[in-house]
Amino acid sequence: MDTGGAADVPDASMTETMTKNETLKKWVGEVAELCKPDAVCWCDGSTEEYDRLSRMMVDGGTYIQLDDSKRPNSYYCRSDPGDVARVESFTFICSERKEDAGPTNNWGEPKEMRETLRGLYQGCMRGRTLYVIPYSMGPVGSPIAKIGFELTDSPYVVCSMHIMARVGSKVLEILGDRDDFMRGIHSIGAPLTDPRQPDSPWPCNVDNKYITHFPETREIMSFGSGYGGNALLGKKCHALRIASVQARDEGWMAEHMLILKLTSPKGEVKYVTGAFPSACGKTNLAMLNPTIEGWKVETIGDDIAWMKFGDDGRLYAINPEAGFFGVAPGTNDRSNPNAMKSFAENSIFTNCALTPDGDVWWEEMTEETPGVLTDWLRRPWTPESERTASHPNARFTAPARQCPVIAEEWEDPKGVPISAFLVGGRRETVVPLAVESFNWQHGTFLASIMSSEKTAAAAGKVGEVRRDPMAMLPFCGYHMGDYFAHWLKIGRQADPDKLPRIFYVNWFRKGSDGRFLWPGFGENSRILKWVFERVDDQAAHVETPLGRMPTAEAIDTTGLDLSQEAMDQLLKVEVEAWLNEIPGIEEHYAQFGDRLPQELRDELNQLKERLKGA
Ligand code: OXD
Ligand code: MN
Repeated sequence: MDTGGAADVPDASMTETMTKNETLKKWVGEVAELCKPDAVCWCDGSTEEYDRLSRMMVDGGTYIQLDDSKRPNSYYCRSDPGDVARVESFTFICSERKEDAGPTNNWGEPKEMRETLRGLYQGCMRGRTLYVIPYSMGPVGSPIAKIGFELTDSPYVVCSMHIMARVGSKVLEILGDRDDFMRGIHSIGAPLTDPRQPDSPWPCNVDNKYITHFPETREIMSFGSGYGGNALLGKKCHALRIASVQARDEGWMAEHMLILKLTSPKGEVKYVTGAFPSACGKTNLAMLNPTIEGWKVETIGDDIAWMKFGDDGRLYAINPEAGFFGVAPGTNDRSNPNAMKSFAENSIFTNCALTPDGDVWWEEMTEETPGVLTDWLRRPWTPESERTASHPNARFTAPARQCPVIAEEWEDPKGVPISAFLVGGRRETVVPLAVESFNWQHGTFLASIMSSEKTAAAAGKVGEVRRDPMAMLPFCGYHMGDYFAHWLKIGRQADPDKLPRIFYVNWFRKGSDGRFLWPGFGENSRILKWVFERVDDQAAHVETPLGRMPTAEAIDTTGLDLSQEAMDQLLKVEVEAWLNEIPGIEEHYAQFGDRLPQELRDELNQLKERLKGA
């Protein structure tokens, strides 16, 4: 495959005219000197560039263009089977001091890690093009947005970044001669040393993956993987791991949260964020079609929220991204019709199955399973095959502006004022449907003990329960104990009446028959309604050892076919089960040593006392 020799690069003189930023030019020159690409291409973010690179990937066998009458301007690709998810075991925080990375991150000694990466980068782009991607996380020019540069040898990454971030010359103009930009280097680690040797459709370096972060110097160095969060550096690496450190230093919040706009039948609006681990339904919740009369949900973002205090003392959130990189399997017209419309065109699909008539398919996409498919590993597939047709972490990459329920203010540079945080995971047992925390500190406590069954979004064993505080376990760029302290500090700084209320929710409870008790999806609007009304101190609640829980009557169940028994189970505090959780929570907390804020220890003790007294 011709992955981009000099012939695919626009007139090199453009490079000179595109930036006058000497620091940037010098750095790009140094990386090119090290990686030895055949050419350097400065991306301008244009449609022409996107189309040119897409065509190149079709010609080279990375992409298949989908049938234009079914899915206009859309592409399908399959990764290497060894490169299908984020690799947490090869993700490193390389802070100067080991203790600053904390017990939940892999730490890399920065000097040593730089040496390792330097060795791997040596000549790693031979035969390929080095693309310089200027990007803004957040609307270009927003006071909350941040500028970064990703240098990559993957045209797939360039096209994905076109969708996921704001890319191009405009970013260079805004940057001017400032040097406070994020520096990201990414290589798939597969030089083309013999021009006679055909390239692989998904070149990567399966046995040598490194996703490294240098928080003090705001640098990211990634090697070996071309997939998702490992490679699209604006997303998890920049907007969460490094941004969380910047947020701590500068007094704001960078969170793994969706942002939605909720409008009541009276036309009142509240904005709500939600922290849920990967593949736990953030995209579905952010775009849901309410099943209750008169309520409306619109989308601001589905994965990341950056929040800063406004002049009025409230927390304002922006979505730093411009697209959705969503889990495809399970997405359908019932679970998320708005996502289905978002990727109706101009989208990229990775590791789904391919239909004979040139469209994509994945498990549960349609009521009827197609008779014949090509699976994500290029093999013929029929419903009798004893394997799934798509990879469980197959993804769609779609522009956010195509979402039919995108809120008109989704790109408002000042962000939207947040009234409530939802936090929660995927738990079959123990955790009830909804609990409101007593206050910010108690909410921080509930978020810090969040747990979830593992999904396919990261490599590892699916189903295992792990504590995933604030859904940030894989994404917090510093010591998690300090991160909890940062949340508490945010709470202390603010007027308590202006802070978002914090709610702990769980859509995934199962009954003794193994079936979900709560129907989820659009029906979650019933819980959003309770949240909305709680923020106004209107909906009924009962005080329980866990927090404030809805009375059965406080949840609008009009038209919902749910037995009283199911509702009782969903809203029950299982005292024994919670007491059994305590040793696990103590073990979780013990890892943070004396960096665990005393306030959270106190909250745990108080929970124990309340449970014992229940
Ligand atoms: C994602 C993830 O891709 O959390 O958003 O894994
Ligand atoms: Mn995510």
